[in-house]
Amino acid sequence: KRVVLAYSGGLDTSVILKWLQQTYNCEVVTFTADLGQGEELEPARRKAEMAGVKPEHIFIDDLREEFVKDYVFPMMRANAMYEGLYLLGTSIARPLIAKRQIEIARQVGADAVSHGATGKGNDQVRFELGYYALAPDIKVIAPWREWDLTSRSRLIEFAEQNQIMVTKDKRGESPFSVDANLLHTSSEGKVLEDPWEEVPDYVYSRTVNPEDAPDAPEFITVDFERGDGVAVNGEAMSPATLLAKLNDLGRAHGIGRLDLVENRFVGMKSRGMYETPGGTIYHLAHRGIEQLTLDRGAAHLKDELAIRYAELVYNGFWFSPEREMIQAAVDHSQEKVTGTVRLKLYKGNVSVVGRKSPHSLYSEKVVTFEDDQGAYDQRDAAGFIKLNALRLRLLGRRDRD
Ligand code: ARG
Ligand code: SIN
Repeated sequence: KRVVLAYSGGLDTSVILKWLQQTYNCEVVTFTADLGQGEELEPARRKAEMAGVKPEHIFIDDLREEFVKDYVFPMMRANAMYEGLYLLGTSIARPLIAKRQIEIARQVGADAVSHGATGKGNDQVRFELGYYALAPDIKVIAPWREWDLTSRSRLIEFAEQNQIMVTKDKRGESPFSVDANLLHTSSEGKVLEDPWEEVPDYVYSRTVNPEDAPDAPEFITVDFERGDGVAVNGEAMSPATLLAKLNDLGRAHGIGRLDLVENRFVGMKSRGMYETPGGTIYHLAHRGIEQLTLDRGAAHLKDELAIRYAELVYNGFWFSPEREMIQAAVDHSQEKVTGTVRLKLYKGNVSVVGRKSPHSLYSEKVVTFEDDQGAYDQRDAAGFIKLNALRLRLLGRRDRD
């Protein structure tokens, strides 16, 4: 009878809105999230009103701070990267959208939720695992898996028959599929579908071409407290403000572009292009401060957990006991991850050039190649190596003689 739709105000979800009203003869409640995608959200309100949604059933929420503080930062504490490269910009936003949709469903007494993800991708899984985890008995409607609008032209035909505005660039084939938020912009499909063809320049939207970036490097600092960024260049900032600031810096220097062929959870390979300017800087900065403050055993275990963690986020298992268990271990490891990292931004690259911490485990006295005044006895290393070599020698005698 009542369904809460994750509504961007774009063509696809506008068609879904009408289709839900017609097909299910139900009252549609729209939810539009500001996750820092950099789009005006008031047009979404107007379009929803025009489609007959009651004003009190139009929800537009600014979730930027919650997104960065409770989703992006916890994931960054884990140094999660899917398949070694992808910073999970789309994946990490889905559980938050799902959570808010369920809250709204409870508030307005809706018994169903709906989204605009296709039946071929990861996003359907992420949305729906979130819904079911938070509301086990919710009804889910995924129009892309149900309707017969199987081509772009049929979608546009439906839009025109139903007085849905179709902008000029959507009338022709849309050039590619985009998802954006404060952490990243992703582009997939169309011109990107041939993995041999280089991504054309016009696909990039939030970084300058590294070839056109300034010829002089820029040096910045990021301060961390217990594993979370708290300041840039000495200026304290909220999580979303901090990430936005790093996005500006990264954009100017062409940082965070990634062309990737990845394995979707549903089994197919897909090719995408990601721009994660601030996230790329943040990720490296966080590793920089961990270099000084984490013990080796903790750091190496964390690296193993990061792979599992990334896979859980990618596959949509944010609200799962195993993600929460890893999170607890990761958060525990961050107690002393406090200090300052200096970074150099230059032509598409970010590098750590300095780090300091009140909790540093680094001892110049121990490591120095100069006279260490008895801080470390080099003779101890002989026995250390000999015992470590014992089994290699036994093997060597058996197999190599
Ligand atoms: N392949 C990426 C992921 O699975 C990006 C998905 C983009 N989603 C979208 N609706 N355009 O996280
Ligand atoms: C979609 O299928 O809606 C986008 C791609 C994905 O979710 O992987």
